[in-house]
Amino acid sequence: MRDNFITLLAEMEAYAITHNVPVITRESGQLLQTVTATAAPKSVLEIGTAIGYSTLLLAASIAPGGKITTLEQDADRILVARQFLAQAGVLDQIELIAGNAGEVVSGLTGSFDLVFIDAAKGQYLDYLYKVMDKLSPGAIVIADNVLFRGWVLGNQATPRRFRTIVKRLQAYLDFVTNDARFDTVIHQTGDGMAVSRYQGEANK
Ligand SMILES: C[S@@+](CC[C@H](N)C(=O)[O-])C[C@H]1O[C@@H](n2cnc3c(N)ncnc32)[C@H](O)[C@@H]1O
Repeated sequence: MRDNFITLLAEMEAYAITHNVPVITRESGQLLQTVTATAAPKSVLEIGTAIGYSTLLLAASIAPGGKITTLEQDADRILVARQFLAQAGVLDQIELIAGNAGEVVSGLTGSFDLVFIDAAKGQYLDYLYKVMDKLSPGAIVIADNVLFRGWVLGNQATPRRFRTIVKRLQAYLDFVTNDARFDTVIHQTGDGMAVSRYQGEANK
């Protein structure tokens, strides 16, 4: 099983490179799996499926019997993700929803023990606001690419066309580091990954 899993991940990485699909780096993938395995969530929301690479990492790390809802707006990527996840034998744990996450998230029912945000970088705070009333107390929210090529730290000038995204990622980090409902650690792995623990509304 482990050999199959590693072979399939390598196949997905090769597909991502050939078809120019951005997927989580290996280093950040390891952090995602470690945090997920520690949290042992029963119910996960992933925003940004792409070809299902991080979905598979999550599926391998959640609590036994856990479920993943994953959102993607690109129809071709959804087809590919479905094929890879079927090949991995995890499709029965996964609900793949097609559509614009900004619209889909508000309509989701139930609560989530872990949320992985990895879709439109300029929309992270909007996704978080929309999912907040669905977070279980103690839920983990992981956001990838939060340091966006180092520009979010302001160490070097951001090219004009990325300035709005960078400002919005800064706003996301400001919120999760300053709002008393979240405890956040920002990791430098890959393109930066924020791991936040939701303390519940009592801390507001
Ligand atoms: C960085 S990729 C996700 C990579 C994936 N999480 C992984 O590591 O394997 C971002 C994905 O989010 C999708 N996306 C971007 N904006 C979206 C939106 N508003 N709603 C749903 N999906 C969106 C893109 O089509 C793309 O496939």
